[in-house]
Formats: sequence, C-alpha cells, structure tokens
Amino acid sequence: MHVVEAPITITGQESRPQIRVAPPGPADRRIIDEDALYMATTTKASPVAARMARGTVVLSEDGNVFLDFTSGVGVTNTGHSHPAVVKAIQEQAAKFLHFAGTDFYYDVQSSLAKELAHAVPGTFAKKTFYTNSGTESNEAAIKIVKWSTRRPLLLAFTHAFHGRTQGTLALSSSKAVHKERFFPSMPGAFAVPYPNPYRNPFNIDGYDEPEALSDAVLSLVEDLLDAAAPASEVGAFFVEPIQGEGGYVIPPKGFFAKLKKILDGHGILMVADEVQTGFGRTGKMFAMEHFGVQPQLTTMAKAMGSGVPIGACVFDAKLDFAVSGAHSNTYGGNPIACAAGLATLRVMREEKLVERSQKMGDVLHKELEALQTEFPRIGDVRGLGLMQATEFVKDAKKTPDKDTRDRVIHEAFLRGLLLLPCGKSSIRYIPPLVVTADQIRGAMDVLRASLKAAAT
Ligand SMILES: Cc1ncc(COP(=O)(O)O)c(C=O)c1O
Repeated sequence: MHVVEAPITITGQESRPQIRVAPPGPADRRIIDEDALYMATTTKASPVAARMARGTVVLSEDGNVFLDFTSGVGVTNTGHSHPAVVKAIQEQAAKFLHFAGTDFYYDVQSSLAKELAHAVPGTFAKKTFYTNSGTESNEAAIKIVKWSTRRPLLLAFTHAFHGRTQGTLALSSSKAVHKERFFPSMPGAFAVPYPNPYRNPFNIDGYDEPEALSDAVLSLVEDLLDAAAPASEVGAFFVEPIQGEGGYVIPPKGFFAKLKKILDGHGILMVADEVQTGFGRTGKMFAMEHFGVQPQLTTMAKAMGSGVPIGACVFDAKLDFAVSGAHSNTYGGNPIACAAGLATLRVMREEKLVERSQKMGDVLHKELEALQTEFPRIGDVRGLGLMQATEFVKDAKKTPDKDTRDRVIHEAFLRGLLLLPCGKSSIRYIPPLVVTADQIRGAMDVLRASLKAAAT
C-alpha cells in the first residue's frame, strides 16, 4: 500500500530545530548549485534554502526546521510572514501595485510618513524621503545634508557600515573587502575612531574608563574640525547608535550627547543610521532613544516593511529640498511597501514588540553570559534588547578568534540554528522580536553543543 506522508509544515512556535537530512541535503543543494552558476558572488553565510518561514522558524527545501536567530539580517522583527502584514500586502496588491509615489499621491504613503514623523526621535517637524534599502536611505541623507548645508565634507566612525554605493562606501570602514578595488569613492569623507569600550582604540592605560574614552574621541573630533576638516565645511556626522556590521559595539552612555553638543556648536548635522537598530531591535523603537539624543536625520530600512523592501530618511522638515527634482526615485514609497510598513508599525504596537524586545533581550543576554562562564573563548557579551553579540578571543590579550567564531556558526547551522557573524570575531543574535523564552532556551542548547564541538 502506498503511504502518503503528511506535508512537513511549521507554525513558527517550534522551540527546537529538527534536522531530518544532514544540511544541505539534495533539495537545498540543487538550489545552491544553480545559484553558484547564475548568481553574482555576494555574502552567503550558510548553505540553506528556504521553502517556508513563520515566526522565528525556517523550513528548508530538505524539510529541515531551523531556528532563525538572524531575522534575515535584522529584517523580520515582526516574525517571518506575520499574518497581519501578509494581509495588508494582499489587500493593497488587489487595489494597485504601483503609482509612482514620488510623482503622484496615495494614502498609504503619506499615512506612513505621518506615523514615522511621530515615531522617530526629535521634537521638531519631520519629513520623509522613501527609498528601497538602507544604503539608499543613507545616500538620500548625504544629498539632503549637502543640499541644505551647502557644505561638502562628511564625517563617520571607523568600523562603521553605511552601505556599498560610492557615496555610502566612503563613510564605511567595517571591512577592507568592501572597499578594495573600488577607490576612489566619494571625496570629502573623514573617519574618527569609534569609542569601543571593549577594544579601546587608544590602547593607553587609563582610557578604559568610559568617560575618558569618550573624551579622548571627542578631542580628536574637535582637533579634526579645527584643521583637517574645517568645521565650516562639514555638513554632517553619520553615526550608528550601535555599530552593527562593525561588531555590535555600544559606545559609552553619555558619548552621543556630548558629540551632539560639539556638532551643534558648529552647525553640523547628526545623521543616525538606524538601518539595523531601528524598529524595536534594541528595546526602544529607535536606538538613539537610549542615549537621549535627537539627530536631525534618521535613516532606516530593514525591519521597516517586515521583509518588503522599503527604507526612509526621516529628517528635520527645515532641511527639505526647496525645488522639485533635486532628488527622487521610481519605487520609493511603493504602495505595497508602505502598506507593509503601516502594518509593521501596527503589529509592533498591538503586540508590544518594543517592550518584548527588551524583556526577551534580557533573557538572551543572561543565557549568553552563562555560556561565557563555561567557554572562555567568549571574551565579551554585549547588546541592547534583542541586538546581542558575543566576541570570540584567543587569550587574555583579546586576540580576535575568527576561526572559533566561524566554526561555532557552522556547527550551529549543522544542528539547526541560523546565526550570522559581525565584526572581526563576533556572532550576532538577532531573532525576530516575537521569539519566545522557550525558543531562546532551545537556541542556547544548540549553541552550547556548537561551542563544545568547535572547541574540540
Ligand atoms: C547600519 C547599516 N546601514 C546601512 C546598511 C545597508 O543597508 P542595505 O543592505 O539595506 O542597503 C546596513 C546593512 O547591513 C546597516 O547595517
């Protein structure tokens, strides 16, 4: 008798991975091989091909069930395919797919801009320029800054990541591979050392104390503005509230407030790149709220549409382009993307996902700290909300241990936990904000086994 097997499916609530076939099995492998033949080389992390995804869980073509602690690189904060977001997309798709939001008008576009004006830090009137990605949001910020200030120079931090276009690349320095063979990028960009409390850039005794570290960086900023990049020529300083690709590094508490004061004194704008930290990831709607600072421009993308490409630069209305055509695009503010954006904000409110990020982030942080006591290669555990990381080191001198980091990610993948690297030797843990405590425990069990396997 022929037995018909029930199709494998997932609810998104599973707290343990299920590995039926050693990954990647034949069904995943077919897609991976085709990809290798026809797709440009990018940044593939683990060989898994998704068939379906819900909540915190991904089902592969092979029928393996993975816990996703990557959120598609910080995108699916409301969980994979949240039903309310899917419904909003379907309803909008049935009305119209596109109408060129930069040239014509429709409700979801202006409604979302109105909501963003309230959600983004800053007690001033705000306007939105819509984009299709984080990079494009930062590119828009560059143009708004240059247009409004007429100043050609821009500052950023070392190890920052703001994107890969020739403009944003000039403000990025998280990895050499992003830049090699692409020079010259946009002229007029300067980088200042980031106040990394774990890896003090000054390497001088006494600067480990957060206040001293902040002040040392700020004196370099002042020095730079005094001569090399004269303050009167500098339009803006681009900052990530928490350095993302650079390794999930949080600056000392009062740092941004002091930096903002210096910038304000020179009429220099602050651009907060919240592409990775935005939409509840850190336990606040936007991470700058942790630091009590109101940047004139905030850029975002990733989690904004729960998986539908959309980004924005939300800025002080006073900086708006004064003429039609100074900046525009075809797809920015696409109706489906805006419907997804509105649904994302609604879900975040209704399910209290910002508070949940803080609560579950505390659970995750404690679990990671417990693992640190068992595995000395974990040199540092850090993060805010559900934006957590562990940095791997070889010794007491904090020599970065990239090999162990990479092995742990691979061992976790083999056991059904999806993780991503960041920085030189860190792993980031960024599950959807709907993750449950059981799923965190399930993931930590896999991580413990993976750390053990990587140590042998
Ligand atoms: C802080 C930050 N800015 C900008 C970007 C670029 O965003 P996108 O890949 O959507 O262009 C990223 C992507 O990782 C990011 O983390």
